[in-house]
Amino acid sequence: MTQDALILVVDDDPAIGKLLRLVLEQSGYRIHIVTTGEQALSYAAAHPPDLAILDVMLPGIDGYTLCRRLRDLRQTSLTPILMLTAQSDIRDKLAGFNAGADDYLTKPFEPQELAFRVKALLARSQGVSGATPKPAQRGHLVSVFGAKGGVGKTTLAVNLAVALARNQNSRVALLDADFSFGDVGAHLNLAPSRTILDLITRADDLDDQVLSKVLIRHESNVQVLLSPYRPEDAERIEPEALKRVLEILTDTYDFVLADCAVNYDERTLSLLERSDLIVMVLTPEIGPVKNTTTFLDLAAQMGIVLGKIQLVLNRADSAVGIAAREIENALQKPIPLRLMSGGRPVVMSVNRGVPILMEQPQHPFAQQVTRIAEVIRTQVTH
Ligand SMILES: Nc1ncnc2c1ncn2[C@@H]1O[C@H](COP(=O)(O)OP(=O)(O)OP(=O)(O)O)[C@@H](O)[C@H]1O
Ligand SMILES: [Mg+2]
Repeated sequence: MTQDALILVVDDDPAIGKLLRLVLEQSGYRIHIVTTGEQALSYAAAHPPDLAILDVMLPGIDGYTLCRRLRDLRQTSLTPILMLTAQSDIRDKLAGFNAGADDYLTKPFEPQELAFRVKALLARSQGVSGATPKPAQRGHLVSVFGAKGGVGKTTLAVNLAVALARNQNSRVALLDADFSFGDVGAHLNLAPSRTILDLITRADDLDDQVLSKVLIRHESNVQVLLSPYRPEDAERIEPEALKRVLEILTDTYDFVLADCAVNYDERTLSLLERSDLIVMVLTPEIGPVKNTTTFLDLAAQMGIVLGKIQLVLNRADSAVGIAAREIENALQKPIPLRLMSGGRPVVMSVNRGVPILMEQPQHPFAQQVTRIAEVIRTQVTH
């Protein structure tokens, strides 16, 4: 289907226009070139393209503003957008992501590179809906939670999702449920061009078609539902709409992993309540241990059975941390699942946005995550 895709190019430089036409038509796409943002908006409203390529420097409205306007237009709110920029400055990249661009290409670029990015964006936007049958049973919701920030929730959630998705028969979705400060996108190097907001605004007519357009396919095969780019948008996610999103996710995927925020607001509590398993991450320090006891009490009050909570002691080998046995005594719960301090390779992989399970699957940290993923799979499917 990508072959006759319609691509809208917005660039006022005739040389670039000519080059794009040549490269893209050779790949079998249909091209429409306009030279201003205003023309682009009226064309896109009448003929919604499958992908748009925008130059940042345009006469009239600039590429970033155009990108934002296309996102606001119902016909193009989910259209993949590739921005062409003159600089590879990180500030430019952030400005583009903020505006809702999916990807970036710095001029001058190699024609093959452009063709490759276009192909990848089109494939990503078509999602996998229909490629794999829906699970016969409702999928399993697994929340990764922590009673303190920075204990390693996102690192674990992302790598667990990658580990579970290795099994070709498992469809795995990863939900960034830290709606204000989520950083699943950063851990996976994915731009927040489509986020949970795109589902919330369609909460009444959600189906797997819409889902497949909004979730972003990561190369690990994990389908990612990102949190809003702006923290102030978090409050737009109403508990009822979130419930609907969770229903459709568990109807469509075998495993839905949620990387939770550290708070006890209504949305987090309902997510935890609905979870088949809560992976509770803590580190061997007094704050996380104290808050984990509080959480276990709260969970009991909420009627969450203790067996549904799996504790994971991260940085268990820390030389200065509280001994694991003392923590187990304090919590009156054994903690068989442990993660080592992975040091530089783990931190580097987070900063690069490539999960260590993909980058160095043999690394002991990656192997420990793989074992935890197997425990989770066994626990929720039995
Ligand atoms: N076991 C580990 N070994 C090495 N580095 C780790 C380990 N666990 C976490 N980190 C690093 O600690 C930092 C914080 O981890 P992460 O972002 O996963 O925590 P978080 O609980 O999601 O934080 P937040 O509460 O801000 O969402 C990251 O840079 C991560 O690479
Ligand atoms: Mg996090």
